[in-house]
Amino acid sequence: MRILIINGPNLNLLGRREPEIYGPLSFEEYFQQLKTRFGGLHLEYFQSNHEGAILDKLHDAGMRADGVVLNAGAFAHTSIAIADAVAAIRTPTVEVHISNVFAREAYRHQAYLSAKCDGCITGLGLEGYALAIEYLAHRFRSAQTLEGPQV
Ligand code: DQA
Repeated sequence: MRILIINGPNLNLLGRREPEIYGPLSFEEYFQQLKTRFGGLHLEYFQSNHEGAILDKLHDAGMRADGVVLNAGAFAHTSIAIADAVAAIRTPTVEVHISNVFAREAYRHQAYLSAKCDGCITGLGLEGYALAIEYLAHRFRSAQTLEGPQV
């Protein structure tokens, strides 16, 4: 099973960016932990500060991935294009936010993206990515049990 994690703008700065909100770990460090924890899955990680690059990666995920974990950063609140891409690809997609966006500024309460995702995890820190992967793996296994193994 292939799961693609996509991080949007400014998330390349994790570990250095507002550590009181986002924690002390870089995503690269955390990604190594995820790969150990989910050794049976094929995990890929992509980060970009550019909306178009995230769109291209989502289209690509629609062809190649069995699930997407998407932290679109501030684009979650502003980008109809990213919301449209998630709706278009139909690959199961879980939205993650490290911080609890609903406990923060009002402009973070709006999310074009959330309604197009299968679910949303917000405010559980980096653990939100692991929980999203657990859900996607469970969903994939359940589908296989119902349909028989994919060839
Ligand atoms: C974030 C929340 C967004 O509001 C913010 O713009 C980010 C990070 C989070 O993971 O908590 O860049 O997506």
